[in-house]
Amino acid sequence: MVGFRVAPMLALEISDLKKTYASGTVALAGVDLKIPAGGFYALLGPNGAGKTTLIGIVMGLVEKSGGSVKVFGTDATAHPQAAKAMLGIVPQEVNFNPFERCLDIVINQAGYYGIPRRTALPRAKALLESLGLGAKLDQPARTLSGGMKRRLLIARALVQRPKLLILDEPTAGVDVELRRSMWDFLQTLVAEGMTILLTTHYLEEAEALCKNVAIINQGKVIRQGQMADVLAISKTNPHDKNFKGGRLEEVYLQLTASDTPNQSLRGVA
Ligand SMILES: Nc1ncnc2c1ncn2[C@@H]1O[C@H](COP(=O)(O)OP(=O)(O)O)[C@@H](O)[C@H]1O
Ligand SMILES: [Mg+2]
Repeated sequence: MVGFRVAPMLALEISDLKKTYASGTVALAGVDLKIPAGGFYALLGPNGAGKTTLIGIVMGLVEKSGGSVKVFGTDATAHPQAAKAMLGIVPQEVNFNPFERCLDIVINQAGYYGIPRRTALPRAKALLESLGLGAKLDQPARTLSGGMKRRLLIARALVQRPKLLILDEPTAGVDVELRRSMWDFLQTLVAEGMTILLTTHYLEEAEALCKNVAIINQGKVIRQGQMADVLAISKTNPHDKNFKGGRLEEVYLQLTASDTPNQSLRGVA
Protein backbone atom coordinates (compact mmCIF):
# COMPACT_ATOMS: atom_id res chain seq x y z
CA MET A 1 0.00 0.00 0.00
CA VAL A 2 1.21 3.44 -0.84
CA GLY A 3 0.54 5.95 1.92
CA PHE A 4 -0.79 9.44 1.32
CA ARG A 5 1.79 12.16 1.08
CA VAL A 6 1.36 14.70 3.79
CA ALA A 7 3.97 17.17 2.58
CA PRO A 8 3.02 19.28 -0.45
CA MET A 9 4.52 18.17 -3.75
CA LEU A 10 7.69 20.10 -4.51
CA ALA A 11 8.52 21.21 -8.04
CA LEU A 12 12.09 21.87 -6.99
CA GLU A 13 13.99 20.89 -3.90
CA ILE A 14 17.47 22.35 -3.64
CA SER A 15 19.68 21.28 -0.75
CA ASP A 16 22.98 22.82 0.30
CA LEU A 17 23.74 23.82 -3.27
CA LYS A 18 27.23 25.18 -3.74
CA LYS A 19 29.10 26.64 -6.65
CA THR A 20 32.59 28.04 -6.76
CA TYR A 21 33.70 29.04 -10.25
CA ALA A 22 37.21 28.23 -11.46
CA SER A 23 38.01 31.92 -10.96
CA GLY A 24 37.49 31.38 -7.21
CA THR A 25 34.18 33.29 -7.11
CA VAL A 26 31.75 31.69 -4.69
CA ALA A 27 28.43 32.10 -6.50
CA LEU A 28 26.39 29.79 -4.25
CA ALA A 29 27.39 29.21 -0.65
CA GLY A 30 24.96 26.46 0.38
CA VAL A 31 21.46 27.23 -0.85
CA ASP A 32 18.34 25.44 0.40
CA LEU A 33 15.09 26.08 -1.43
CA LYS A 34 11.74 24.33 -1.50
CA ILE A 35 9.60 25.40 -4.40
CA PRO A 36 6.05 24.06 -4.22
CA ALA A 37 4.31 22.71 -7.29
CA GLY A 38 1.81 25.06 -8.91
CA GLY A 39 1.79 28.83 -9.16
CA PHE A 40 4.45 31.48 -9.58
CA TYR A 41 7.60 31.54 -7.44
CA ALA A 42 9.89 34.57 -7.42
CA LEU A 43 13.64 34.17 -6.96
CA LEU A 44 14.91 37.64 -6.17
CA GLY A 45 18.29 39.12 -5.40
CA PRO A 46 20.74 41.81 -6.45
CA ASN A 47 22.96 41.41 -9.50
CA GLY A 48 25.60 38.82 -8.75
CA ALA A 49 23.52 37.12 -6.03
CA GLY A 50 23.75 33.77 -7.81
CA LYS A 51 20.31 33.45 -9.45
CA THR A 52 21.52 32.62 -12.95
CA THR A 53 24.11 30.22 -11.57
CA LEU A 54 21.41 28.40 -9.60
CA ILE A 55 19.21 28.13 -12.69
CA GLY A 56 22.18 26.92 -14.75
CA ILE A 57 22.79 24.11 -12.28
CA VAL A 58 19.13 23.10 -12.22
CA MET A 59 19.20 22.90 -16.02
CA GLY A 60 22.41 20.88 -16.03
CA LEU A 61 24.30 23.64 -17.85
CA VAL A 62 26.58 24.57 -14.96
CA GLU A 63 28.41 21.98 -12.88
CA LYS A 64 27.67 22.31 -9.18
CA SER A 65 30.39 22.14 -6.53
CA GLY A 66 28.13 20.44 -3.99
CA GLY A 67 24.58 19.79 -2.84
CA SER A 68 21.59 18.34 -4.63
CA VAL A 69 18.70 19.30 -6.90
CA LYS A 70 15.47 17.36 -7.18
CA VAL A 71 12.91 18.13 -9.87
CA PHE A 72 9.50 16.79 -8.84
CA GLY A 73 11.32 14.32 -6.65
CA THR A 74 13.79 13.20 -9.34
CA ASP A 75 17.46 13.73 -8.55
CA ALA A 76 18.90 15.87 -11.34
CA THR A 77 22.40 14.40 -11.00
CA ALA A 78 21.36 10.75 -10.93
CA HIS A 79 18.70 11.16 -13.65
CA PRO A 80 19.59 14.23 -15.71
CA GLN A 81 17.47 13.34 -18.73
CA ALA A 82 14.36 12.63 -16.70
CA ALA A 83 14.85 15.85 -14.75
CA LYS A 84 15.44 17.91 -17.87
CA ALA A 85 12.34 16.54 -19.55
CA MET A 86 10.26 18.25 -16.85
CA LEU A 87 12.01 21.61 -17.26
CA GLY A 88 11.74 24.47 -19.68
CA ILE A 89 14.02 27.46 -19.49
CA VAL A 90 13.87 30.99 -20.79
CA PRO A 91 17.47 32.14 -20.36
CA GLN A 92 18.59 35.59 -19.34
CA GLU A 93 20.64 35.95 -22.52
CA VAL A 94 19.16 35.28 -25.97
CA ASN A 95 20.97 32.15 -27.11
CA PHE A 96 19.39 30.94 -30.34
CA ASN A 97 20.97 30.99 -33.77
CA PRO A 98 19.94 34.37 -35.22
CA PHE A 99 19.97 33.01 -38.76
CA GLU A 100 17.59 30.16 -38.04
CA ARG A 101 13.87 30.53 -38.78
CA CYS A 102 11.64 31.04 -35.75
CA LEU A 103 9.64 27.91 -36.49
CA ASP A 104 12.79 25.81 -36.86
CA ILE A 105 14.20 27.08 -33.57
CA VAL A 106 11.14 25.76 -31.77
CA ILE A 107 10.88 22.49 -33.74
CA ASN A 108 14.58 21.71 -33.31
CA GLN A 109 14.27 22.20 -29.58
CA ALA A 110 11.50 19.59 -29.57
CA GLY A 111 13.91 17.32 -31.45
CA TYR A 112 16.37 17.43 -28.55
CA TYR A 113 13.64 15.91 -26.42
CA GLY A 114 12.90 13.19 -28.95
CA ILE A 115 9.60 14.68 -30.09
CA PRO A 116 9.00 13.76 -33.74
CA ARG A 117 8.66 16.55 -36.25
CA ARG A 118 5.06 15.70 -37.12
CA THR A 119 4.13 16.27 -33.47
CA ALA A 120 6.40 19.26 -33.01
CA LEU A 121 5.27 21.18 -36.09
CA PRO A 122 1.64 21.88 -35.11
CA ARG A 123 2.69 22.42 -31.51
CA ALA A 124 5.38 24.92 -32.46
CA LYS A 125 3.00 26.79 -34.75
CA ALA A 126 0.30 26.98 -32.09
CA LEU A 127 2.77 28.22 -29.48
CA LEU A 128 4.25 30.88 -31.73
CA GLU A 129 0.76 32.00 -32.69
CA SER A 130 -0.41 32.24 -29.10
CA LEU A 131 2.67 34.33 -28.34
CA GLY A 132 1.87 36.75 -31.16
CA LEU A 133 4.56 35.47 -33.52
CA GLY A 134 2.27 33.83 -36.06
CA ALA A 135 3.43 36.20 -38.80
CA LYS A 136 7.09 35.47 -38.10
CA LEU A 137 7.23 31.70 -38.48
CA ASP A 138 9.44 31.79 -41.56
CA GLN A 139 11.52 34.79 -40.56
CA PRO A 140 15.07 34.39 -39.28
CA ALA A 141 15.21 35.13 -35.56
CA ARG A 142 17.58 38.06 -36.06
CA THR A 143 14.76 40.07 -37.68
CA LEU A 144 12.70 40.04 -34.46
CA SER A 145 12.48 42.91 -32.01
CA GLY A 146 13.79 42.44 -28.46
CA GLY A 147 10.33 41.66 -27.08
CA MET A 148 9.65 39.19 -29.88
CA LYS A 149 12.93 37.40 -29.18
CA ARG A 150 11.85 36.96 -25.56
CA ARG A 151 8.57 35.47 -26.71
CA LEU A 152 10.39 33.14 -29.10
CA LEU A 153 12.45 31.94 -26.14
CA ILE A 154 9.22 31.25 -24.25
CA ALA A 155 7.77 29.26 -27.17
CA ARG A 156 11.00 27.26 -27.40
CA ALA A 157 10.93 26.52 -23.66
CA LEU A 158 7.33 25.28 -23.82
CA VAL A 159 7.48 23.02 -26.87
CA GLN A 160 8.33 19.92 -24.85
CA ARG A 161 5.56 20.69 -22.34
CA PRO A 162 7.57 21.13 -19.16
CA LYS A 163 5.99 20.89 -15.72
CA LEU A 164 8.30 23.59 -14.41
CA LEU A 165 9.06 26.66 -16.48
CA ILE A 166 12.02 28.78 -15.36
CA LEU A 167 12.30 32.33 -16.61
CA ASP A 168 15.48 34.28 -15.91
CA GLU A 169 14.57 37.98 -16.07
CA PRO A 170 11.98 37.47 -18.82
CA THR A 171 10.76 41.04 -18.82
CA ALA A 172 14.08 42.88 -18.60
CA GLY A 173 13.98 45.63 -21.20
CA VAL A 174 10.44 44.73 -22.29
CA ASP A 175 7.92 47.56 -22.46
CA VAL A 176 4.98 47.77 -20.05
CA GLU A 177 2.29 46.68 -22.47
CA LEU A 178 4.20 43.64 -23.62
CA ARG A 179 5.13 42.78 -20.05
CA ARG A 180 1.50 42.73 -19.16
CA SER A 181 0.52 40.46 -22.03
CA MET A 182 3.43 38.19 -21.21
CA TRP A 183 2.20 37.83 -17.62
CA ASP A 184 -1.33 37.17 -18.89
CA PHE A 185 0.02 34.40 -21.08
CA LEU A 186 2.06 32.91 -18.25
CA GLN A 187 -0.95 33.07 -15.96
CA THR A 188 -2.92 30.88 -18.35
CA LEU A 189 -0.12 28.30 -18.08
CA VAL A 190 -0.27 28.42 -14.29
CA ALA A 191 -4.06 28.06 -14.43
CA GLU A 192 -3.47 24.85 -16.38
CA GLY A 193 -1.23 23.52 -13.61
CA MET A 194 2.27 24.63 -14.56
CA THR A 195 4.81 25.80 -11.99
CA ILE A 196 6.71 28.95 -12.93
CA LEU A 197 9.93 30.04 -11.29
CA LEU A 198 11.11 33.47 -12.29
CA THR A 199 13.74 36.01 -11.49
CA THR A 200 12.90 39.64 -12.00
CA HIS A 201 13.84 43.13 -10.93
CA TYR A 202 10.23 44.26 -11.23
CA LEU A 203 9.32 43.79 -7.60
CA GLU A 204 5.78 45.09 -7.96
CA GLU A 205 5.07 42.41 -10.53
CA ALA A 206 6.67 39.74 -8.40
CA GLU A 207 4.57 40.85 -5.44
CA ALA A 208 1.35 40.79 -7.43
CA LEU A 209 1.94 37.45 -9.12
CA CYS A 210 3.93 35.22 -6.85
CA LYS A 211 2.51 33.36 -3.91
CA ASN A 212 5.98 32.32 -2.81
CA VAL A 213 9.30 34.07 -2.85
CA ALA A 214 12.95 33.59 -2.01
CA ILE A 215 15.46 36.39 -1.68
CA ILE A 216 19.10 35.52 -2.15
CA ASN A 217 22.17 37.65 -1.63
CA GLN A 218 25.81 36.73 -2.07
CA GLY A 219 24.98 33.11 -2.76
CA LYS A 220 22.82 32.62 0.33
CA VAL A 221 19.09 32.53 0.90
CA ILE A 222 18.23 35.36 3.23
CA ARG A 223 14.47 34.83 3.27
CA GLN A 224 12.00 32.40 1.73
CA GLY A 225 8.37 31.54 2.17
CA GLN A 226 4.93 32.70 1.27
CA MET A 227 4.86 36.23 -0.09
CA ALA A 228 2.39 37.32 2.58
CA ASP A 229 4.70 36.12 5.37
CA VAL A 230 7.77 37.73 3.83
CA LEU A 231 5.90 41.03 3.49
CA ALA A 232 4.65 40.77 7.06
CA ILE A 233 8.15 40.73 8.56
CA SER A 234 8.69 44.35 7.76
CA LYS A 235 5.59 46.24 8.70
CA THR A 236 7.79 48.06 11.17
CA ASN A 237 11.46 48.81 11.44
CA PRO A 238 12.80 49.84 14.84
CA HIS A 239 15.88 51.41 13.23
CA ASP A 240 14.02 53.69 10.88
CA LYS A 241 10.96 55.61 12.04
CA ASN A 242 10.17 56.63 8.46
CA PHE A 243 10.07 53.02 7.30
CA LYS A 244 6.77 52.20 5.64
CA GLY A 245 7.28 48.50 5.01
CA GLY A 246 4.73 46.04 3.82
CA ARG A 247 5.65 46.38 0.16
CA LEU A 248 8.05 43.92 -1.39
CA GLU A 249 10.39 46.65 -2.55
CA GLU A 250 10.88 47.96 0.97
CA VAL A 251 11.27 44.50 2.42
CA TYR A 252 13.72 43.60 -0.31
CA LEU A 253 15.82 46.70 0.20
CA GLN A 254 15.84 46.18 3.92
CA LEU A 255 16.88 42.55 3.64
CA THR A 256 19.57 43.09 1.04
CA ALA A 257 20.95 46.23 2.66
CA SER A 258 24.06 44.50 3.96
CA ASP A 259 27.66 45.50 3.58
CA THR A 260 27.86 44.53 -0.08
CA PRO A 261 28.49 47.05 -2.84
CA ASN A 262 26.85 44.98 -5.61
CA GLN A 263 23.26 46.01 -5.10
CA SER A 264 21.59 46.84 -8.31
CA LEU A 265 18.45 48.24 -6.78
CA ARG A 266 19.97 50.31 -4.04
CA GLY A 267 20.50 53.92 -4.77
CA VAL A 268 18.01 53.85 -7.63
CA ALA A 269 15.51 55.98 -5.69
N1 LIG B 1 30.96 31.70 -15.83
C1 LIG B 1 31.36 32.36 -14.73
N2 LIG B 1 32.64 32.36 -14.34
C2 LIG B 1 33.05 32.99 -13.22
N3 LIG B 1 32.22 33.68 -12.42
C3 LIG B 1 30.92 33.72 -12.76
C4 LIG B 1 30.41 33.07 -13.92
N4 LIG B 1 29.08 33.28 -13.99
C5 LIG B 1 28.76 34.03 -12.92
N5 LIG B 1 29.86 34.30 -12.18
C6 LIG B 1 29.92 35.07 -10.92
O1 LIG B 1 29.10 34.40 -9.98
C7 LIG B 1 28.35 35.32 -9.20
C8 LIG B 1 26.86 35.07 -9.39
O2 LIG B 1 26.51 35.42 -10.71
P1 LIG B 1 25.07 35.14 -11.30
O3 LIG B 1 24.70 33.73 -10.99
O4 LIG B 1 25.08 35.54 -12.73
O5 LIG B 1 24.16 36.13 -10.44
P2 LIG B 1 22.75 36.81 -10.76
O6 LIG B 1 22.09 36.03 -11.86
O7 LIG B 1 22.01 36.75 -9.48
O8 LIG B 1 23.04 38.22 -11.18
C9 LIG B 1 28.80 36.71 -9.65
O9 LIG B 1 29.85 37.12 -8.80
C10 LIG B 1 29.32 36.46 -11.05
O10 LIG B 1 30.29 37.41 -11.40
MG1 LIG C 1 21.32 36.63 -13.64
